[in-house]
Amino acid sequence: MLRFKVRLNQKCTDTKIKSKNNDIPVLCSKAGIFFNSIASKSILQTTITLKNDLILRAARGEKTERTPVWLMRQAGRILPEYRAVRERMGGFKELVKSPEFACEVTIQPVDILGVDAAIIFSDILVIPEAMGLNYEMVESKGPWFEKTIQHGGDIEALKIAEANDLQYVLDAIKLTCKELNGRVPLIGFAGAPWTIFAYMIEGKGSKTFSLAKKFLYTNPIEAHTLLEKITKSTINYLKAQINAGAHMVQIFDSWAGILSPQQYNEFSLKYISDICNAITEVPVTVFAKGAFFARAEMGKLNCNTIGLDWNMEISESRSLIGNHKTLQGNMDPCLLYADYATIKKETQNMLRQFGPHRHIANLGHGVYPDIEKDKVKCFIDTVKEFRF
Ligand code: CP3
Repeated sequence: MLRFKVRLNQKCTDTKIKSKNNDIPVLCSKAGIFFNSIASKSILQTTITLKNDLILRAARGEKTERTPVWLMRQAGRILPEYRAVRERMGGFKELVKSPEFACEVTIQPVDILGVDAAIIFSDILVIPEAMGLNYEMVESKGPWFEKTIQHGGDIEALKIAEANDLQYVLDAIKLTCKELNGRVPLIGFAGAPWTIFAYMIEGKGSKTFSLAKKFLYTNPIEAHTLLEKITKSTINYLKAQINAGAHMVQIFDSWAGILSPQQYNEFSLKYISDICNAITEVPVTVFAKGAFFARAEMGKLNCNTIGLDWNMEISESRSLIGNHKTLQGNMDPCLLYADYATIKKETQNMLRQFGPHRHIANLGHGVYPDIEKDKVKCFIDTVKEFRF
């Protein structure tokens, strides 16, 4: 059950520190929560001092006592405690739309696994829904859209999502911040426009997303119109998440790897770049699965952290991306099927390869649902115990 420990209007100590790129001074709280002094005044009243801000410091390129660690998809089926709440709610969407329960499962991995950040329990598909395309999460199959985008008229009918279209996520963020009471930062997130576009055209998961790619080849102008609408919606959404209390945000480009380098620049990176330029309040992470070919270009994005998958060699990634970005990742999620000694050894190898600075430990993609919770804990504990 939820326990409300928070004291609203708790005072924070204002100090001058640097903006997301360490160049423009902004007003911020002692906790290291960033906000632009004009846009985010409302947050001031509820700012809570963070007891653990390792991940924010690592994202900004500051020194940390140890490498911070969290896992993509940490709130989910690896935890029996999640499955119990999920069962009680009846369905995934019911859970996502109930701020109190979304808050509860968001905090579970902090309590149970000891991660250095929470990520708000939601889904990237809330954006297509807020724009006018309802989705269902079909048990053991995945997402399914009744209506898909087929031509220009469908794009015109979509609205640009605004904060109040996603009030349930914002309420879940506010509640989670209160309930976390500064134990760790809360990560907000959204899908990259290309990945959202792919689901809107295809209407479900796919190995190739060939319908979505066909649309790029056959309707490039309309594709840009749709990507533009998704980008505007995503900026509104991420800013609203930050206003509600998210301490950093991550953009997931899960289907980056199916585009050619030239298509990736034109149809994905351009829009990710627009989002990064618009989000100035908190550190931004960009995770583009399979985009090994775009690492040098990603180094030029106006973001703090680049997520790597396990196919991306660490030192090569560092030299392609540059020293001015934090890297996140990148253990193969399948390592967690191995025995404890192997998990420990490989995790330590990974930490040595990244080195002590500008690294946030994570897997190279979301944790698989059939991984044992204790193996996940072994990965996390190994990172937390490691010292250079
Ligand atoms: O812990 C967390 O990471 C926070 C919650 C989170 C979910 N989805 C919950 C979820 C996050 C960050 C996501 C992102 C997401 N959703 C992505 C990008 C990351 C990635 O994995 O590449 C994508 C592509 C989706 C779309 C999506 N949601 C699919 C394809 C599926 C079905 C496949 C699957 O994993 O079951 C989902 C369902 C989903 N989203 C679940 C969870 C916990 C499982 C639903 C359940 O409980 O039955």
